[in-house]
Parts: sequence; C-alpha cells; structure tokens
Amino acid sequence: MRKPIRRAIFPVAGLGTRFLPATKAIPKEMLTIIDKPLIEYAVEEAISAGAEEIIFITSHTKPSIEKHFSEAPELEKRLKDSGKLELIKKIKPEKLRNITFTYINQPEPKGLGHAILLAESAVGSDAFSVLLPDDLFLSTPSCLQQILDSYSRNLQSTIAVNKIDKENIHKYGVIDPGNNKLDESNTVKISNIVEKPNAEDAPSDIAVAGRYIFNTSIFECIKKVEADSSGEIQITDAIKFLIEIEDVQAKIFEGDKYDCGSKEGYLDATIAVAMKDPYFSDKIKKIITDKL
Ligand code: UTP
Repeated sequence: MRKPIRRAIFPVAGLGTRFLPATKAIPKEMLTIIDKPLIEYAVEEAISAGAEEIIFITSHTKPSIEKHFSEAPELEKRLKDSGKLELIKKIKPEKLRNITFTYINQPEPKGLGHAILLAESAVGSDAFSVLLPDDLFLSTPSCLQQILDSYSRNLQSTIAVNKIDKENIHKYGVIDPGNNKLDESNTVKISNIVEKPNAEDAPSDIAVAGRYIFNTSIFECIKKVEADSSGEIQITDAIKFLIEIEDVQAKIFEGDKYDCGSKEGYLDATIAVAMKDPYFSDKIKKIITDKL
C-alpha cells in the first residue's frame, strides 16, 4: 500500500559550529555544492518523494533560508529584461511552484528532538518525513524515496541507516537489530538505538543517516525525553521510547551519503557532484590531476 507523506520537516536551527567562521553569518544549510545550496538539494528530494508542504524549523538568526525560497521580483525583472530566461528557471524552479513553505522558530538550539517537536501542531495526524539537509545523498531512487518504499509496506516509522567504519561510528546514532533479520528490501526492525557510542560499545556498525519517516506517536515520545548533559533533547532518545510501544524499522539505503556538516564530507560532496556533472566532470579531473 502506498501512502503519500505530504509534510516534510527540515530542522535547520542548529549552530553549525563545525563550519565556523563560515556559519557565523551563513547558515550551514545555505552552503553551496557548486551553485546550489545544500538545503535546495534536500527540498528537491522531499518534493520528488511527494511532499507538498515543507516545514522549516529555523532560527530568527537565519533569515536567508526563508529568503531563498521566496519570490525575488527585482532580480527576476532584471534577468527578464536582459533575456536571461534560463537563470529565471534557476531562481524560480517550476517544481517549487505549488509547494507550501512554513517557517517555525526554534528560539534556542535545544536539540533535534526539540526541533521536531515544534512541528507537532503543523503536522496534524499524518505521518511525516524529517530531512537533515547537511546529509547529502546521491542516489536513484533518492534516500527518502527508498525509506518511503519501506514505510509503505507496513506503515511503521522508518529511518535511513548505513554501514559506518569503526573509527567513525562514535559520531552517529547506532542501531541494534538484535536477532531481527534484514528483509529482502534491506530493512530491519530495530531492537535498540544508542547515541554516539564508543567503537567498543557500539551495538552494530549500522548508523542513522539524516532521513526519517515518523508516525505521530513520536511526539509523545519526544515529550518524555530529558535533556542530555549538553542540554539537548535527542531524537535518538525519543526513538528508544518509540521502540517500546511500536515497531520501528531501519532501511539500509543504497547510494552515497556525504556528511556535509563536516569539512571533509563537504569537500567530498563538492567533488562528487562535479564528477557527476557532464559540464564539470573532465574539468574537475584535470584540476585535481594537475595538482598531484
Ligand atoms: P547537527 O548537530 O548536525 O547540526 O544537527 P549543528 O548542531 O548545527 O552542527 P554542529 O555540530 O554545531 O557543527 C543536525 C540538523 O539538525 C538541526 C541542524 O540545523 C542540522 O540541520 N538542528 C540541530 C536544529 O534544527 N535544532 C537544534 O537544536 C539542533
């Protein structure tokens, strides 16, 4: 049974400290991969998976995100007057035309769980997706589409996961599949989940990636979570509570993920996108080989 997920939540109110000083004035989510901000890649992913409303959980210190998805009549007129119609398509993409954009302020960055809870009244009673735009996925079908396909089979909350090497596992939420077996679509029921474990304590090598589909029962679970030692309400802790009341699935997605919240991941993504672009691929190879 296919069930459309009409609302996509984008938590974008974090401080982006790993990218300072760039993120002092520019939101991390507005950093560009070549000529397109990270956030636009993720918004496109949500829309192509059927989202009709994009709900940003944002900060009043990040007005450029709202500006990016608003009309720009002056710029549009200038481009029109000078015959640059191709560029108008870039600043006003057709696929955004019928999409509703909603902005909710997170007054303080109190964690991803806290950010998601702020969307409760906007979400209503339907399941919804959450996309973290600093995780860039390059795959067909998209990562969100892949977890949506898994979700559609049993309508249980489903999160995207991927295998991570031991030396990096401490950076992620890590799932414990227990004795549950992967099904034919590489989806497994979660037994437990641990936030940023040491490599020795990690229950598996399968880590949470930045795409989720939640049933609305997650909201009551977030409300039960206490802030951690850094004062943040973690979504991982809410998922732990969710597992106690209903089945939660993890889908090992197929494709490449780039953690653009880190400098290495961001550079990697920029090169990967350039390599896939027919205009840039030979140029970027030459730029790199000339420097070796
Ligand atoms: P991260 O932990 O990767 O982002 O949160 P951060 O805190 O901005 O980055 P660093 O670690 O300081 O460099 C993942 C996503 O959740 C959002 C962030 O904006 C990012 O998109 N987020 C995080 C919120 O919206 N609110 C929060 O309180 C925390």
